[in-house]
Amino acid sequence: MMIKCDIKDKGLAPKGKLRIEWADNQMHVLRKIRERFENEKPLMGKRISCCLHVTTETANLMRTLKAGGADVVLCASNPLSTQDDVAASLVADYEIPVFAIKGEDRDTYYGHLISAIEHKPDMTQDDGADLVGLLHQDYSDTYLKNIIGGTEETTTGVIRLKSMEKEKALKFPIIAVNESQTKHFFDNRYGTGQSTIDGLLRATNILLAGKNFVVCGYGWCGKGLAMRAKGMGANVTVTEVDHIKAIEAVMDGFRVMKLEKIMPEADVVITVTGDINVVDEKHIKAAKDGVIIANSGHFNDEINIGALESMSDKKRTIRDFVEEYTVDGKRIILLAEGRLLNLSAAEGHPAVVMDMSFANQALGSEYLVQNSSKMQQKVYVIPEEIDYEIARLKLDSMGIGIDELTEEQKIYLNSWKMGT
Ligand code: ADE
Repeated sequence: MMIKCDIKDKGLAPKGKLRIEWADNQMHVLRKIRERFENEKPLMGKRISCCLHVTTETANLMRTLKAGGADVVLCASNPLSTQDDVAASLVADYEIPVFAIKGEDRDTYYGHLISAIEHKPDMTQDDGADLVGLLHQDYSDTYLKNIIGGTEETTTGVIRLKSMEKEKALKFPIIAVNESQTKHFFDNRYGTGQSTIDGLLRATNILLAGKNFVVCGYGWCGKGLAMRAKGMGANVTVTEVDHIKAIEAVMDGFRVMKLEKIMPEADVVITVTGDINVVDEKHIKAAKDGVIIANSGHFNDEINIGALESMSDKKRTIRDFVEEYTVDGKRIILLAEGRLLNLSAAEGHPAVVMDMSFANQALGSEYLVQNSSKMQQKVYVIPEEIDYEIARLKLDSMGIGIDELTEEQKIYLNSWKMGT
């Protein structure tokens, strides 16, 4: 059968298949769900368009949706995050249509989103809300009308969708996977923490010990990144705009100060804020020679690259994902064109954490099939029972048993009469 696709090279499939299977060996929860889906087919006949990072972990999610009876297609959620061998294997070995090529330009990226929309989905899975945004902007009279609901993976996407809900622009219910405890506590913190360091080291091969390392933003991703950079011996400074998060960073043992003030000392600056122009012209002006600047937030607008381009007299590529700009005689190093460093220069979060995130995606889609007719055009959190069931299965897969409340303890916790 000819599977629709736009990928780099089908010949990469054998390498991709081995890597997909390698990841699957660490995704026990998702595998359990896949086995149940094989038997119960809860997604039977549903057309699902997915806009996710095309990685080995995502491939196992696609296999799970297909096992559940869904007719799935996948496009990239970022121009630089696609693993071309994985895209090839999904098409050649798993017969799943994929539209994604690492390094694709903006037009190709949007062309791929359109290909996913032309699948005429009943449901969506999104990472950053580009697919849902485009459906609402350009397809409101056509394909949008068929959709019963969607899931959203990441903080940035959830923020966009909540603003659509507020403006009453959202036309179908969304499950915000990011809001599950089994997602953000682990994926955002330990996943981003490790994979961002991984991307930094693969791109540059620098030694972290002794470096002045600045983390912009102390949400779950920033917390993980700061913790891991500290663990490798860097002197970590956090910048924040939220007073409570700033105190938290101080009490977690980090120096907290304004970005402009730390720039003259900073060796590495990484943004994980979800906002634009966090590293702006004034920060670049204040930077020292040789500073490395990168982003691990969803979009490539956290660093003002336009300003950097216009301030610089010279630009050259030093190695893969490493560009050197010369600004007033100083070298400013930008990694991965300011795109998600962890997915551009490395492989994104390890399978062990994506296991829980994608268990939420799979069970979120199943929940939508069962409940969307009762849901409103709003952003929902996955029910707590599902979140806890994912945690239970994860612990089970790790061979870890935990204590249970006794009857006496349950009564105690429900009683307001017992005291000293
Ligand atoms: N987001 C972060 N890491 C990822 C991965 N490995 N696969 C898919 N999405 C991701």
